Amino acid sequence: MSAEIIRIAPPSGAYDVVVGEGLLDELGDLLASRTFCKDAFIIADSTVASLYLERARTALEAAGFTVGSAVFPAGETHKNLPTLGELLEDMAKARLDRTGTVIALGGGVTGDMAGLAAALYMRGIAYVQVPTTLLSMVDSSVGGKCAVDLAAGKNLAGAFLQPSLVVADVRTLATLDDGVFSDGCAEVIKHAVLADPRLFESLSREALSKDDPHERLISVIARNIDIKRSFVESDEREQGPRKLLNLGHSIGHAVEAASGYTLGHGHAVSIGLSAITKAAEGLGWAEAGSAAAIIDALDRHHLPTSSPYPVDELIGYARLDKKCDADGITLAVPEGIGHASLRHVGFEEFARIIALGTGAS
Ligand SMILES: NC(=O)c1ccc[n+]([C@@H]2O[C@H](COP(=O)([O-])OP(=O)(O)OC[C@H]3O[C@@H](n4cnc5c(N)ncnc54)[C@H](O)[C@@H]3O)[C@@H](O)[C@H]2O)c1
Ligand SMILES: [Zn+2]
Repeated sequence: MSAEIIRIAPPSGAYDVVVGEGLLDELGDLLASRTFCKDAFIIADSTVASLYLERARTALEAAGFTVGSAVFPAGETHKNLPTLGELLEDMAKARLDRTGTVIALGGGVTGDMAGLAAALYMRGIAYVQVPTTLLSMVDSSVGGKCAVDLAAGKNLAGAFLQPSLVVADVRTLATLDDGVFSDGCAEVIKHAVLADPRLFESLSREALSKDDPHERLISVIARNIDIKRSFVESDEREQGPRKLLNLGHSIGHAVEAASGYTLGHGHAVSIGLSAITKAAEGLGWAEAGSAAAIIDALDRHHLPTSSPYPVDELIGYARLDKKCDADGITLAVPEGIGHASLRHVGFEEFARIIALGTGAS
């Protein structure tokens, strides 16, 4: 089966995203044909390393690359400065020079950390994203945002650095836990609500599954990347329209924090997306029926749509969101299926929206 290639061309430089099946074994050829220097350094978490690191190494070595690697313990709790520091030390020990390429092999945690390591190492070297979760294929591997968490909050230390190439092999999705696959479905549904009523309709009719024919997975992932492309190209640094991609995230981040980060990112976004749509419909900002349609689509993907946390607690966490300014927050608000807008609201109105959306008074 042929792969799909999406060209992303933000102001800081263009790159390809290749989506297909069996691409992990072609990694070396895909890099070599784009004239990367022959030094590669793979970063993976412990789970992905045991599944795919040797396959990636073999493919790269077969194409003439020298391959170093570093593995860190899996999980969001390791997306922090100590782990980042160890990765940088490992890169230096391997004598990676500034012409080398970092390969981020894994989900969003690996992509974020390896991207930031590449941005910092010798003031910036190239990196390639090889996403292995649905979430990282449709969202985090594209767009150049990379960050680690601080004690004070998520993604507080980071940089913008676009990858030089993204290679998504849908075969790697077969080994994902169902819950982790569902996390990615929340971002897929978010993209459909933002920009694609036809995709939304297809997801509502038949839920996406990791057991789907690869043709469907490739086509849905490629469409999602194309949606993200349009926002990244028009607003690389998230000064304006790219903020729409935060749909469901302002309340979602509060839910994530309230869960002590035990709830998967996509699960929290699902609750956030349901809440903001319910509130928007209640306030007359979104077409009638939008909330029921979105909640039904999320349900079909085994995602939660109501918050188990007290509204006051959510409001407290929401005010700490780094998207807040002195007066309030710019919210992405759905207007119907396929279109959304940005609205700046004060803190009191934001609290009212959270209460309305999460069903508490
Ligand atoms: N930079 C961005 O633009 C952006 C956008 C969205 C999310 N993110 C970040 O992405 C992270 C979430 O990403 P994620 O959900 O991919 O988390 P993750 O990277 O932690 O992966 C989830 C789990 O799946 C495992 N895994 C990964 N691939 C696998 C595979 N093929 N088979 C079996 N297990 C596999 C991992 O080891 C991990 O335990 C968060 O830290 C979030 O902040 C970043
Ligand atoms: Zn997200």
